Amino acid sequence: MANLKTVFVTGGTGYIGSHCIIDLLNEGYEVITIDNLTNSRSGALRRVQEITGKSVTFYECDLLDGRAVHAIFAKHKIDYVIHFAAMKAVGESMQFPLIYYKNNVIGTINLIEAMKANSVYQMVFSSSCTVYGDPEHLPITEDHPTGAVTNVYGRTKYLIEEMLKDLSHAEEKWNIIALRYFNPVGAHPSGRLGEDPTKNFTNLMPYIGQVAIGKKPSLTIFGCDYDTPDGTGVRDYIHVMDLASGHVSALSKLDEEHLRFKTYNLGTGQGVSVLQLVKAFEAVTDTKVAYELKPRREGDIVSMFANTTLAKKELGWTAKYSLENMCEDFWRWQTMNPDGYANDEPFPATSLDEILPLSEKTTAASPAKVTAAGPAKAVPAFNSVNSINGVNGVNNH
Ligand SMILES: NC(=O)c1ccc[n+]([C@@H]2O[C@H](COP(=O)([O-])OP(=O)(O)OC[C@H]3O[C@@H](n4cnc5c(N)ncnc54)[C@H](O)[C@@H]3O)[C@@H](O)[C@H]2O)c1
Repeated sequence: MANLKTVFVTGGTGYIGSHCIIDLLNEGYEVITIDNLTNSRSGALRRVQEITGKSVTFYECDLLDGRAVHAIFAKHKIDYVIHFAAMKAVGESMQFPLIYYKNNVIGTINLIEAMKANSVYQMVFSSSCTVYGDPEHLPITEDHPTGAVTNVYGRTKYLIEEMLKDLSHAEEKWNIIALRYFNPVGAHPSGRLGEDPTKNFTNLMPYIGQVAIGKKPSLTIFGCDYDTPDGTGVRDYIHVMDLASGHVSALSKLDEEHLRFKTYNLGTGQGVSVLQLVKAFEAVTDTKVAYELKPRREGDIVSMFANTTLAKKELGWTAKYSLENMCEDFWRWQTMNPDGYANDEPFPATSLDEILPLSEKTTAASPAKVTAAGPAKAVPAFNSVNSINGVNGVNNH
């Protein structure tokens, strides 16, 4: 049944955003999404419409363009915001800290200002388990200390969380949930939507996939003598469709209760080692993944997995997909779409020109999009700088 509420989704053509929009549409929400397409292709939204049979409104818009964001809020009646848009490559963030702070923090401030100017106070923010730093206890509960983060990307998430906390403390109207994702993997079970395999990636499963299809010779595993069941690093992998449903649950919670600001972990609660993931992947996909064991890397976190009790109790949410489902769905997506969305027609964007006041169209130029390569002349489709941390560790984003 249509619930006639409208969700404004930032970063909606990206990996997690596009999967979440499927669940939002299926739950009857109207969706308006923006993306600057620096790390995604709009063709993903065609597939979202094809899967759901419902339509999405899309603006190609940069959060750093505050005027445009204001104009979209002024044009539509928006009930909630889900804020996915961010730059997320850990290694790149260490090379280009200002770009990351500008994009992630200033982008969020612009969004908050537009929300406030249009009396929209309900938001779900994409945070990350990276805010916990090196865990003091496992499984990690939401009250674990945050802020001892060793990379710039993670610090942008921590800073934004602190900013949102201060804001909701100062102004009673705000009702914000920060969802701390553990390690999102997998793809939509249809095989039509997933993380674009043509992008630079720093996550383990896409790397395993590249080895399995013969595009990379082997997987390098850093550290095989940790205090874990098989000596390799442990993470909490969560299916992207479970993450998606976590956002729908968070919106219902915002509807029911005025929390001001609250954080929830989204994970499965199960720690899985690199070797366990490799073995599960091989078994499910009937492939061989060659790997090489190398010494530990400095700064890598050994083990990280969530305590998910709070999300279960207060959001009524638990992860449903198994590790096998994650591998199976990822593999289906990758084998059906080796070029991702590269050959898809772009999704038609609603023109910003139609909604920007005339005076602003003629007097001010839009700010240049920010990419890791600096303000863009012709903006590359994807972040162009490889992670300095390498791709085959178990980074947390
Ligand atoms: N994927 C993970 O492992 C992971 C883990 C924890 C948290 N997160 C967070 O979840 C969110 C979504 O991640 P994802 O994996 O879908 O990443 P993604 O890169 O696929 O999606 C993010 C989208 O935001 C867009 N974007 C970036 N800056 C923008 C700006 N200034 N204006 C408009 N659009 C902009 C990008 O083009 C991209 O489409 C991010 O905030 C990320 O930090 C991701």
